[in-house]
Amino acid sequence: MPDIIDLKAPETKVPTSLLSDAMGRRFEYLRLSLTDVCNFKCSYCLPDGYRKANGAPTNLNIDEIARLVRAFASLGLWKIRLTGGEPTLRREFIEIAGAVSAIPGIRRLAMTTNGYRLAERAQSYFDAGICAINISIDSLEPEKFKQITGHDRLAEVLDGIEAARAAGMTDIKINTVLMRNLNHQEIDDFLNFVATRNVSLRFIEVMRTNDNPQFFKSHHLPGTHVAKRLDDLGWKQLARKPGAGPAVEYGHDAAKGRIGIIAPYSQDFCATCNRLRVSATGKFHLCLFGDGGIDLRPLLASDSQYEELVTRIVALTQTKAPSHLLHQGDSGKTPHLASIGG
Ligand code: 5AD
Ligand code: SF4
Repeated sequence: MPDIIDLKAPETKVPTSLLSDAMGRRFEYLRLSLTDVCNFKCSYCLPDGYRKANGAPTNLNIDEIARLVRAFASLGLWKIRLTGGEPTLRREFIEIAGAVSAIPGIRRLAMTTNGYRLAERAQSYFDAGICAINISIDSLEPEKFKQITGHDRLAEVLDGIEAARAAGMTDIKINTVLMRNLNHQEIDDFLNFVATRNVSLRFIEVMRTNDNPQFFKSHHLPGTHVAKRLDDLGWKQLARKPGAGPAVEYGHDAAKGRIGIIAPYSQDFCATCNRLRVSATGKFHLCLFGDGGIDLRPLLASDSQYEELVTRIVALTQTKAPSHLLHQGDSGKTPHLASIGG
């Protein structure tokens, strides 16, 4: 049993996480999926829309979620991202966010969303304790946005960004999946977008999953393509902040915002991995591209299992693999990223 951080001690500085793996990577950050359901149909993720698998287990309830987060928080993990699928499709989303943000030790609650109804709901998210938000926008052209996501909602999502800021969120990121012949022609438009807005826009290389090998083959474009354009236009790579994840960030004197590149196919991408994931049904995923995940749910039924749960999390984290096997064409057992949270 490791030492557990005394959560009742007065707040001083952010604790160093006790959770680490055999390679010495430390984990301060958990991505918690609340549902694998999504109402969008992104071409690289759920091109035919979400379909419920027969006999799928139910999602963790709010008590199970609270037990899980308490166990991670006691190990010094202080940041949670609520993700999905589309996490806001959980009816109890606000209640869950409120419960998680109130757990001692959780200093930062973030969420990822496709932006659906964000303009009208941003204030309620902020009021529930969410201070950081990642919004997916793969095109700034309304028609193209519709073609990629199946929804004619670009204007609504853009309004959502402003609503999130007006609500009080200070950390606003845009996720843009980089796709050859779909949006790679828009790179300069995205740079201009960021020039006038205090946001960080991340270009994410499209990742191969079990469901999308053909799409991947047609549309994958290495992040170096964006890096070259940034270099040509005078953007400069920023120093890595301590505890930063795998995004490489760039700034420009004339731009209010920043650009990031997330390139999972680049060398050493996994060396800076700082994330752990738990699926909506309680499966612990040490890597996006691993096996089916390890079920923590049997240890979430009662408060009395707390110590056993903590011990299990510590032991499992030690076994995190050094790297994914994407280069060998092995994307693990992940059908699409909606299933465990992007
Ligand atoms: N490749 C890259 N990013 C993906 N996402 C989902 N599926 C993929 C994929 N195959 C990311 C998108 C979305 C976030 C929720 O997950 O960026 O914005
Ligand atoms: Fe939904 Fe996100 Fe998948 Fe798009 S990428 S279909 S928004 S889960």
